[in-house]
Amino acid sequence: MANNVKNPVKITETILRDAHQSLIATRMTTDEMLPIVEQLDKVGYHSLEAWGGATFDACLRFLNEDPWERLRKFRDKAKNTKLQMLFRGQNILGYRNYADDVVEYFVQKSIANGIDIIRIFDALNDPRNLETAINATKKEKGHVQAAVCYTISPVHDIPFFVNLAKQLEGMGADSICIKDMAGLLLPHTAYDLVTEMKKNVNIPLQLHTHYTSGVASMTYLKAVEAGIDVIDCALSPFALGTSQPPTEPMVATLQGTERDTGLDLNLLNECSEHFRPLRQSYLESGLLDPTVMGVDINTLLYQVPGGMLSNLVSQLKQQGKEDKLDEVLREVPEVRKDLGYPPLVTPSSQIVGSQAVLNVLAGERYKMISKETKGIVKGEYGRTPVAISEEIKKKIIGDEPQITSRFADTLKPELDTLRKECAQWIEQDEDVLSYALFGQVAEKFFQQREDAKHQVEGSVTLLS
Ligand code: CO
Repeated sequence: MANNVKNPVKITETILRDAHQSLIATRMTTDEMLPIVEQLDKVGYHSLEAWGGATFDACLRFLNEDPWERLRKFRDKAKNTKLQMLFRGQNILGYRNYADDVVEYFVQKSIANGIDIIRIFDALNDPRNLETAINATKKEKGHVQAAVCYTISPVHDIPFFVNLAKQLEGMGADSICIKDMAGLLLPHTAYDLVTEMKKNVNIPLQLHTHYTSGVASMTYLKAVEAGIDVIDCALSPFALGTSQPPTEPMVATLQGTERDTGLDLNLLNECSEHFRPLRQSYLESGLLDPTVMGVDINTLLYQVPGGMLSNLVSQLKQQGKEDKLDEVLREVPEVRKDLGYPPLVTPSSQIVGSQAVLNVLAGERYKMISKETKGIVKGEYGRTPVAISEEIKKKIIGDEPQITSRFADTLKPELDTLRKECAQWIEQDEDVLSYALFGQVAEKFFQQREDAKHQVEGSVTLLS
């Protein structure tokens, strides 16, 4: 490290989670990753993002792996580096709202099995949806990283995000993440945003972005100039495209400056060497599609995430209405405005996109209304950034009541019921949580786990 270093930039390595989630649909197996974890542990990263997000679902659904076992194996090999996970507020790692007792137990077990830092976000940026997870993480002595979902709209200006970050700091966050899931954050905006946040927030600030629109490394450099504390990068074999900016070029860029990361490029290269043949095999199997490695200028033109645009195209294709794409792209911001400007991230991106398609294909706005659109208006997802107008409310839910309290307050504790439902499968405490999140998918996994055990017992009998 150069001796003029005043304030090294820290790096969170995402290759064990977001990088393969973004490029190869979260399919990397524990066996593929585990042999390099000890080496990654030597690099000196701020943290390894290694769990949560879609990895839990993918383990159970596609890989026939116990996600808890993966976490324990990573923990065992990463003795010095903090392990980090991504947590979807009241949705945990699933797709519905869970009662508080499930959220609390999930946090408790995540930390007990080895997680140090929990990055918690909510698709609507409703702080009430982060509250339970934040309190549970603090209770378990974990590090709370509260995330602000970055988006572009007439209401999402710099003061909006600064206020939200201050609010999250007040709720007990240990650090703040600016989470740009769609790659919308442009370099000069990042400079201004980070500058203002650093002035107003007293806890460390981390930036997460994706390379989708081709600007991400420039965005990081401007954020570094503005004083960002931590950035999320992925080792080069699984970087770029819809993934994060590559780790090695960031490290090289900052070398010799007062923000030198101090990380060793040779050590990083040894880690990358492990992933290069994996990248090649995923290219050959077709799971890594070279088109996701390109620059998606639609993100810059329409401010919609890349994934959302391809969903719209495929929805229209199914109806033989590809010619309506321009009309749908003009309708998206209108629906978004009607629904109170939700950030376009799962699940709101799908809800807004599908409703825009319905509005265009029906030839009349809100003639057909999806269940999820009604859910947003009813308040089932939380508070929208802007209140929904009376006129739209009337049109979409008529006289049905709107929930204005925290949605989870309407849910009864559910852990005991869930425990009874899956009692026959329980081999470890954590199993009830796998079942809570992914019901039938988890049961199928439990069944396979049992079958495999019988096979082993069978072969032991044969041998003896
Ligand atoms: Co991400």
